[in-house]
Amino acid sequence: MPQISHPLEPFKIKTVERIPITTREKRESILREAKGNIFSVPARAITIDLLTDSGTGAMSDAQWGALMQGDESYAGSKSWEDLDATAQAVFGMPWILPTHQGRGAEHLLLTVMLDRSKKPVIPGNGHFDTTSGHIDWAGGTGVDCVGAWADDPDSDYPFKGDIDPEKLRAVIQEVGVDRVPLVLVTITANTAAGQPVSLKCLRDVRAICDEFGIPLFFDAARFAENAYFIKMRERGMSRKSVGDIVRMMFKLVDGAVMSSKKDGLVNIGGLVVCRSRELYRKLASMGTLFEGFPTYGGQAGRDIAALAVGLREVLDEEYLKWRIGQTYYLGARLKENGVPIIWPPGGHAIYINTGKALPDLPISVFPGIALQNAVYLEGGVRVCEIGAVLAGRDPLTGENRIPRFDLVRLAIPRRVYTQTHMDYVVDTVCRVYEKREKIKGVRFTYEPPVLRHFTAEYEEIAE
Ligand code: F0G
Repeated sequence: MPQISHPLEPFKIKTVERIPITTREKRESILREAKGNIFSVPARAITIDLLTDSGTGAMSDAQWGALMQGDESYAGSKSWEDLDATAQAVFGMPWILPTHQGRGAEHLLLTVMLDRSKKPVIPGNGHFDTTSGHIDWAGGTGVDCVGAWADDPDSDYPFKGDIDPEKLRAVIQEVGVDRVPLVLVTITANTAAGQPVSLKCLRDVRAICDEFGIPLFFDAARFAENAYFIKMRERGMSRKSVGDIVRMMFKLVDGAVMSSKKDGLVNIGGLVVCRSRELYRKLASMGTLFEGFPTYGGQAGRDIAALAVGLREVLDEEYLKWRIGQTYYLGARLKENGVPIIWPPGGHAIYINTGKALPDLPISVFPGIALQNAVYLEGGVRVCEIGAVLAGRDPLTGENRIPRFDLVRLAIPRRVYTQTHMDYVVDTVCRVYEKREKIKGVRFTYEPPVLRHFTAEYEEIAE
């Protein structure tokens, strides 16, 4: 195998934050106190935190500068004018509405567009948990139309986040157009291992939506990473700028919801963008009730100012080359050492395939939780089960749901960790993998009725 190289960090460091270095003994006592739940481990006891890439990125000097210049007006601040103009230019959409974070945007769009009396169905490529939650809340049901290509964890298929147009058509025909108020495509597909969606797929989906008269929306949390994959992997796209590709992608949709905490390169915030003034008006009045006046939407003016800068910075191709290259480096080095991961690496995270890593442990003993906790104990690295516990129970039968893959996610914050940090993560995970036969499963000592992974308590199953 050729040498796997880490890309050059296209930045230097101006401010540093001390990271905690702990002993194994200390970590054992902390995890015991946390009742085996990694969400209850305090950040002060974590050396490298790969729990999420959301709201955990580092802002640039330009963003910190903008923050100081941001102005705090309830209505029509200068910061808002900057964000409005920037978002219109980046996405090519005329109507921009800020919200406090991504789920605020989902709440507005789905409440306005779903009519619960029709039992609406929202096809997509694997809705994120908060999106599914808001679909349920608004009386709808999400349907996953991702293609069979996502079922093979080892293939090189370049766009595993793609919807299968035939599956989409079949869902619309089965439930009837009247019950499908929109199709929602997530770029990149977080629940399908951070895999991108191709322009070809977007064009096919648009054609089907046009045929049936159904609006098409993005969940655009990682829109720039998706555009960079299109540039790298899709035929005929390598000479286009990422900025152009973003506009090509957005030309195909009626609007988008977005968490700004990922590719907005800020620590809080969200957006809805759309083409229709009528829809914007409905969203803006709901938004005033739940988020704030439409020119701040639950955010401080200074945060809006930093987002305006972040939306441009994220299109910097040197940054994206490094970002996607760093994720690739982590994935390729784990793979080189035999650790089974979902291949190819996605944009924001590496997903260990727990079912393959610990094949002797049945899913009923939650091997993902056991693996995640072993990684913490080994090196103070926090990673997160995206598997059987997260999947929860079927509300009708009460049985544990079985996810397509039982995974452990290593999500990489943006512009935070260097190659040395990644090498430390690789060493930690590989040491755990080498002694994997020692990993036992866990059982619940407390299982909350909803969103159980956040607050469950566990004990290790003895020999
Ligand atoms: N959509 C996607 C695809 C996401 O990944 C997230 C958040 C949201 C919507 C919700 O955005 O947190 O700003 O309300 N994902 C985080 C994660 C939490 O860890 O993957 P939010």
